[in-house]
Amino acid sequence: MARLLQYSSFSLCFHSIIVVTVLGSIPKLILSSTLYSDIQVLRTLKRSVDPSSISPTSYLTTWDFIVDPCESTGKQFLGIVCSIPLDNTSAPSRIIAIDLDSVGYDGFLSPSIGNLTELTTLSLNRNKFRRTIPESISNLKKLTRLSLADNCLTGTIPTEITLFKNLEYLDISGNLLTGSIPTNITRLRSLAYLSFSSNSFTGTIPDLAGLWQLETLDLSSNQLFGNLPHFPTRLKTLLLNSNILSGHISRVKMLNDLRRLDLSDNRFSGHISKDIVSLPRLVHLNVSMNRFTAIGTRNFSREETQLQVLDAEKNNLHGRLPINLTTIQNLDTINLAHNQLAGPLPREYGKKLENSWRVLYLDHNFLSGNVSQEFIVHAPRIEGSLSKNCLRCPMSTTLCRGGQRSASECIQVQ
Ligand SMILES: *[C@@H]1O[C@H](CO)[C@@H](O)[C@H](O)[C@H]1NC(C)=O
Ligand SMILES: *[C@@H]1O[C@H](CO)[C@@H](O)[C@H](O)[C@H]1NC(C)=O
Ligand SMILES: *[C@@H]1O[C@H](CO)[C@@H](O)[C@H](O)[C@H]1NC(C)=O
Ligand SMILES: *[C@@H]1O[C@H](CO)[C@@H](O)[C@H](O)[C@H]1NC(C)=O
Ligand SMILES: *[C@@H]1O[C@H](CO)[C@@H](O)[C@H](O)[C@H]1NC(C)=O
Ligand SMILES: *[C@@H]1O[C@H](CO)[C@@H](O)[C@H](O)[C@H]1NC(C)=O
Ligand SMILES: *[C@@H]1O[C@H](CO)[C@@H](O)[C@H](O)[C@H]1NC(C)=O
Repeated sequence: MARLLQYSSFSLCFHSIIVVTVLGSIPKLILSSTLYSDIQVLRTLKRSVDPSSISPTSYLTTWDFIVDPCESTGKQFLGIVCSIPLDNTSAPSRIIAIDLDSVGYDGFLSPSIGNLTELTTLSLNRNKFRRTIPESISNLKKLTRLSLADNCLTGTIPTEITLFKNLEYLDISGNLLTGSIPTNITRLRSLAYLSFSSNSFTGTIPDLAGLWQLETLDLSSNQLFGNLPHFPTRLKTLLLNSNILSGHISRVKMLNDLRRLDLSDNRFSGHISKDIVSLPRLVHLNVSMNRFTAIGTRNFSREETQLQVLDAEKNNLHGRLPINLTTIQNLDTINLAHNQLAGPLPREYGKKLENSWRVLYLDHNFLSGNVSQEFIVHAPRIEGSLSKNCLRCPMSTTLCRGGQRSASECIQVQ
């Protein structure tokens, strides 16, 4: 059997020389060709895709198997990368990367993928690969990049995935995956990027502190519940929005490298600590659609805060507008709409509209009193709203469009 396979591998290779010669190109001596079983896997992978979903200009169309995959040039076998054997060896080439185009291939990931044991990259984003992720994927011990985002994959995460010691990039977002996040995912010590976003994962988030090289963690849009776990301290991006997470968020205070934090659309409660607002590199903070009752601030004017966007819309924020928000140097987008904030509109806010704030939503609160001249003067260049409060807000001012609350609503609160 083995000999037979060898023979057909040779004949494929031979065939490719003839094609090249016939086409009049410079014939080159082929010392090696693709490992026969790797070619077989490519055939199986192509056969697992509905031919009607393979458009004429797609990469898979170029997989015609007339030439040897690793000896092909030009427009043949697009989407694969082969290892280059040493010049003077006759070792066969191996497929080390598959990176298909996003043209809507409709099929499934054949278990034979597990035979491509030299594969370091597998990327099949934005297609229609269905069924489960085959368990045989656990044979791909050299994978550094696995990206199956935006397909139709079902089932759970194969726990064998946690054996990929070299995996640096794992993206299975935008599928129909279920089950929980394996606790031993922390074995993936090389991971820098992890996205399980937009699936149907449930359960709690395991302790992830062991993923010490992780910089991006995206678990958004799932059905994860429970409290925040420990996170790796090097995180730069933490996206947990649109889950059913609850409890306090003080664990986030330790993440000094964080640039972007999205906890929106969950059930978090308690205070948004001033230590989170002032995380030294944080640019984008979204805590909207939760049950927070207060934002902690202090005078930040002597701190090197980077915060540019603060979205705390649709919470349960009480008390007055935090004047100290005006001491955050780079802040320009503020949304505190749909809360229970009361008291006057600080003059300091009006001053910020002159030179730094660009977006200010304070609508659907219980703010009262006069709207100072600065608001009226700068309103045309500000995106935002002061509507549905208890303010004396001239309707001619764009920020006041939509009107205020009825007198009876306002009396109830004050
Ligand atoms: C993958 O390897 C297994 C075991 O060696 C073999 O039985 C199977 O035929 C191979 N599949 C392909 C497509 O090469
Ligand atoms: C040829 O292969 C041998 C070992 O297989 C290696 O030591 C040598 O450097 C190679 N020569 C060239 C020119 O690649
Ligand atoms: C990971 O944990 C699951 C159970 O939680 C277990 O079945 C699996 O064998 C573990 N994997 C490794 C690689 O230890
Ligand atoms: C904050 O999150 C909510 C809900 O996830 C989203 O609708 C909103 O656009 C986000 N805000 C910003 C400023 O990105
Ligand atoms: C503003 O910050 C100062 C100094 O950090 C603090 O004393 C004051 O209470 C803060 N004001 C409000 C309204 O939180
Ligand atoms: C914050 O502190 C600076 C100087 O330390 C001061 O000029 C400024 O008025 C303070 N801002 C507020 C809102 O307290
Ligand atoms: C608010 O404006 C009205 C009418 O311009 C004025 O009579 C009133 O004194 C103002 N109230 C405050 C608190 O400044």
